[in-house]
Amino acid sequence: MAKAKTYFFCSECGYQSSSWLGKCPECGKWSTFQEEVVQAPKADNRISKRTAVDGSKPKLIHEVTTSETQRIATGCGEFDRVLGGGIVPGSLLLLGGEPGIGKSTLLLQTALAIPDRRILYVSGEESEQQIKMRADRIVDYKKTDCYVVSETVTQRIFEHVDAVKPDLLIVDSIQTISTENIDSSAGSISQIRECTAEFQRYAKESGVPVLLVGHITKDGNLAGPKVMEHIVDCVLQFEGDRNYGYRMLRSLKNRFGSTAEIGIFEMQGDGLREVANPSEFLLSQRDENLSGAAVAATLEGARPMFIEVQSLVSSAVYGTPQRNANGFDFRRLSMLLAVLEKRCGFKLGAKDVFLNIAGGIRVSDPAIDLAVACAILSSNVDIPISPRYCFAAEMGLSGEVRPVSRVEHRIGEADRLGFEKIFVSKYNARSLNKKRFGLEIVEVSVIEEAFRSLFA
Ligand code: TYD
Ligand code: MG
Repeated sequence: MAKAKTYFFCSECGYQSSSWLGKCPECGKWSTFQEEVVQAPKADNRISKRTAVDGSKPKLIHEVTTSETQRIATGCGEFDRVLGGGIVPGSLLLLGGEPGIGKSTLLLQTALAIPDRRILYVSGEESEQQIKMRADRIVDYKKTDCYVVSETVTQRIFEHVDAVKPDLLIVDSIQTISTENIDSSAGSISQIRECTAEFQRYAKESGVPVLLVGHITKDGNLAGPKVMEHIVDCVLQFEGDRNYGYRMLRSLKNRFGSTAEIGIFEMQGDGLREVANPSEFLLSQRDENLSGAAVAATLEGARPMFIEVQSLVSSAVYGTPQRNANGFDFRRLSMLLAVLEKRCGFKLGAKDVFLNIAGGIRVSDPAIDLAVACAILSSNVDIPISPRYCFAAEMGLSGEVRPVSRVEHRIGEADRLGFEKIFVSKYNARSLNKKRFGLEIVEVSVIEEAFRSLFA
């Protein structure tokens, strides 16, 4: 048996060093090195890797047959959309997300819904009974060819794989799995790296796709070294606010599809339900005559989402006015308030401002700016904005209303949802063929114009 050896690994990027280092030479992070006892892989293991490599030959590119047509459709429209049309054979996928967000539920539900495929669901976290209890909550499981096993050692997992011969292997989660080739404990960097590599080798050699679950750290990154993200073909992230039932599936990396698509689900008592039209749940049913609300026409990836921005402006009771933003960047809010003070006579220092994005959704699209500004102004002057109006523009520091990407897409969707007016930047409207749309397109170049048009 090879002698056990101690190495130090960077917990950020997986850089390996034989001594402890304060700063990682690879990623530049400080105090990230952790000591791990590593045992060199057994000699015979290396030989088997060798022969596999020798067996492959270079081919001419036009002789290579693609497996595009053989993608495994998961039977779940939202999941397939994010994957780019289904799971590619031989691919290695990683699903990350905070604890309790619904990763295991999503995968088990998918495993039970895929038609005519044999699936092996390996859990290192739950017993078979617990998986069954979860399955009972979700669907009628009798219909499918889904095997479950509770196991944490890769060598045993591959024995089960040989016995079951699945069309898809699901492993929940990579942090609980360990390989006998390495001596360190499950969840350590070297274990995660080696296990991921073993699953990748299996996927590539057998053509069976492998779906791994990965935990994320408190700062939102996938736990374990970045190396893992490099190895896998596809990194998916499952996110959402735990206080709301809505969950978003994003792809952060996808070798076989676009990373712009998102999938939206709703967590219910009996599992996850697909949400085909997110705008319908994001727009609350509100009264015409309530001030402080405005609808933003945002895009998440390639998908239009109409989101309601709610704001409350009131006189500050204490010396320091309060600011609170839910689902929106706080510094961006301060900047918008400063612009409004300068351009629209909004008395910043004397007002408390509260901002909330309905539905617990966190938006990164800058096109939400104009809706935020108008919601604040509406609450300030206490004049409601019609729920049939929507906004799609970014704001600049001098109060200019700036163009946003894919504005036609947003206008088309607003039209489809029955909005009467959409406020966009003048610079966006120039190249538009307005006759194509049934709704009125209001062009504004500075925030004052929007203010006058809405409240004058
Ligand atoms: P889970 O899939 O265990 O999360 P993860 O694997 O990401 O840690 O999801 C757990 C949460 O989902 C739990 O708080 C209960 C809830 N849940 C439902 O609301 N409905 C359901 O049908 C199921 C199975 C879970
Ligand atoms: Mg889980």
